Amino acid sequence: MKTLPLTDDTRLLVLTGAGVSAESGVPTFRDAGGLWEGHDVREVATPAGFVRDPLLVWRFYGERRRGLDGIVPNAAHHALASIERRLGDRFLLVTQNIDGLHRAAGSERVIDLHGDLMRSRCSSCDRPPFEDRQAYRPGVAPMCGRCKAAGQDALLRPDIVWFGEIIDRRFLDRIEAFTLDAGRRLVFLAIGTSGLVHPAAALVDAARTVGGTSWLVNAEAPANVDRFDHVVLGAAGKLLPELLGVGEPPAV
Ligand code: APR
Repeated sequence: MKTLPLTDDTRLLVLTGAGVSAESGVPTFRDAGGLWEGHDVREVATPAGFVRDPLLVWRFYGERRRGLDGIVPNAAHHALASIERRLGDRFLLVTQNIDGLHRAAGSERVIDLHGDLMRSRCSSCDRPPFEDRQAYRPGVAPMCGRCKAAGQDALLRPDIVWFGEIIDRRFLDRIEAFTLDAGRRLVFLAIGTSGLVHPAAALVDAARTVGGTSWLVNAEAPANVDRFDHVVLGAAGKLLPELLGVGEPPAV
């Protein structure tokens, strides 16, 4: 099997998608045929859907939160945390996942591009997002305590980037700065993502533009497979420890 060419100079930019968590038991999106647990994404993952039926949206995300009970990182998450310990600031991990499993495995330089399932924020005021592990309580759409104290009624919402919403500019700036600074030293590694959702799907092109090398580890060839220099097909948890040269995670 091939191994990634990591030298003392390498800057490693990793992009992960739902496939990296599949072996932990978190279902991927498109494997469910465009439906999320039987819901059309427009109902549960758009601002308009939230305005139309906040209870449905909260029930959906409450179930997602409950679904993470007992879910733990797999060998792929551990391998990425391990290589970060070796590379330090020469490493950056961008994830489209909202399951928190990279941080649970010990990754620190993580950009949660699409938000975090275990955080909520106010749909109205600018209080910072906060950790929130509450499951759905039937018939209850949680309200913002800060707005209430100011005599306003405002719904809390999951801290997730829904379809049609804009990704935090600071995230994109940080990725761009890392990529530009790396230049030809950049190794870009995408893992378990279908290459359909932007801006993540275009990171491979940014890597090429600065003269970097791109790698893909995926169960099957995704939409943007032709844009990668190296493609390794298979399960991330099986492939990554060897590909990154970090061996198996410690037994727990
Ligand atoms: N190892 C590697 N790849 C895998 C594995 C595995 N064990 N299992 C599945 N895959 C691959 C699938 O073949 C598929 O190409 O992971 C990919 C998962 O694709 P999606 O389900 O489309 O997930 P993702 O690319 O992360 O979706 C992007 O779309 O719905 C939105 O916001 C949501 O973040 C999500 C974004």
